[in-house]
Amino acid sequence: MKSLNSMRISGFDVLPLFEGGKGISISNGESSGAWAAAGAVGTFSGVNADSYDSDGQPIPQQYFGRTRVERHEELIRYAIDGGVTQAKIAHEIAGGRGPIHINVLWEMAAAERVLVGILERAGKLVHGVTCGAGMPYKVAEIAAHFGVHYYPIVSSGRAFRALWKRAYHKFSELLGGVVYEDPWRAGGHNGLSNSEDPAHPEDPYPRVLELRERLREFGLDETPIIMAGGVWYLREWENWIDNPELGPIAFQFGTRPLLTEESPISDAWKQRLLTLNEGDVYLNNFSPTGMWSSAVENAFLRELKERHDHQIAFTREPIGDHDTAFLTGPRKQPLFVTAHDKSRAEQWIAAGHTEAMKTPDSTLIFVKHEIMRDIRTDQTECMGCLSTCNFSNWSQLEGHTTGKKTDPRSFCIQKTLQVIGHSDEVENQLMFAGHAAFRFKDDPFYSNGFVPTVHQLVDRLVTGD
Ligand SMILES: Cc1cc2nc3c(=O)[nH]c(=O)nc-3n(C[C@H](O)[C@H](O)[C@H](O)COP(=O)(O)O)c2cc1C
Ligand code: SF4
Repeated sequence: MKSLNSMRISGFDVLPLFEGGKGISISNGESSGAWAAAGAVGTFSGVNADSYDSDGQPIPQQYFGRTRVERHEELIRYAIDGGVTQAKIAHEIAGGRGPIHINVLWEMAAAERVLVGILERAGKLVHGVTCGAGMPYKVAEIAAHFGVHYYPIVSSGRAFRALWKRAYHKFSELLGGVVYEDPWRAGGHNGLSNSEDPAHPEDPYPRVLELRERLREFGLDETPIIMAGGVWYLREWENWIDNPELGPIAFQFGTRPLLTEESPISDAWKQRLLTLNEGDVYLNNFSPTGMWSSAVENAFLRELKERHDHQIAFTREPIGDHDTAFLTGPRKQPLFVTAHDKSRAEQWIAAGHTEAMKTPDSTLIFVKHEIMRDIRTDQTECMGCLSTCNFSNWSQLEGHTTGKKTDPRSFCIQKTLQVIGHSDEVENQLMFAGHAAFRFKDDPFYSNGFVPTVHQLVDRLVTGD
């Protein structure tokens, strides 16, 4: 294994190894502080991060506002307080040995207000901002205002080009690096474009080379590219290291750090990681953001898949073979479906999926009564955590609605990520993970259930394992 040269990141000479930011509360002050203290780059999530009470217990993010807008304001306050809290913890643990980055998502509600709010109070403790999910044009200007570096997360050279041309060229000196997140392999939300086939993963090398060519076009030959998604043993990436064609390359890990002592996830989640098989993590398109995402197969995902499978198209008038009346709702309103779909729907109803719910795509899905009740409750209790939400039709823009129908095929991501991040419930919640997570099982580092500290993991990564 080639030795890893140190790299200048956000004003520090450190190993070219990054902790990937993980919300909600999955990479935090404790984990990021430990990464920085180990001479690498720590990243805490600034997405609805935790604050603590005087006993050190996370303060539950409860909402008292009567309207979505009032709850949205409460959420912003929680997010800013939480981000400041985590920055302080990270700073203390890091002891000045490495940089601390904050990760935000441009698709989260009020991303700009939250980021500015955190940096106003804790900007001196944070050295970089990483930001993906959407096109974060504004992040460069915000970072420049606070004198911190910024790291856009992109999945193609084309996306970076657009960011650079429109906004980043004005703030080039603080562009610390560009994260290439492999849209087929990374955990969490994935930046697959409409023209990319989720079933056909592409080789990251030519895509990263293409990104480097875009960077060179703009004179950014020495700007590090941080490769994220599917990176496990660095020895498998030797041809990427000190490769003049690719230029400076660092590596980001999201999944491996889940299984460290400092990782705040539950023991149940850690244990589950050790049992995963290839194929247990896959891309799904259920997220209320409308983005693809990668998570572990469990009862939560199976139930969402079932909603999609128990689905039929309808028309409001008889058209073509949609000539069979189907009565729905309390008023037994007739909709028109094919005769074949009617008999499928009757079978689902007989099996207990008695409730028909309309989707924005003129389809009906069939769910059990308790699922419908939960969907309705979650939509009603929405606190506007995203910029726009397909599930509840919340929008942070004026009017606070997307103007579309709510989509019962999706779910409240805020609720499920809060639960999995703060309890040992893993089967019925969304468990994000990268596609290489099955490797925990056979990696000898973790034999006999060994859970390393972050320092031990970093030392191990440096050896190529
Ligand atoms: C549980 C989990 C949550 C994640 N949450 C975020 C997030 O909030 N923001 C983000 O930019 N990336 C997020 N990611 C992506 C990671 O930061 C990282 O880029 C990715 O996991 C790298 O690929 P790997 O999973 O193969 O290591 C998440 C990943 C995981 C596994
Ligand atoms: S319904 Fe959507 S916007 Fe509302 S809190 Fe849940 S995920 Fe966030």
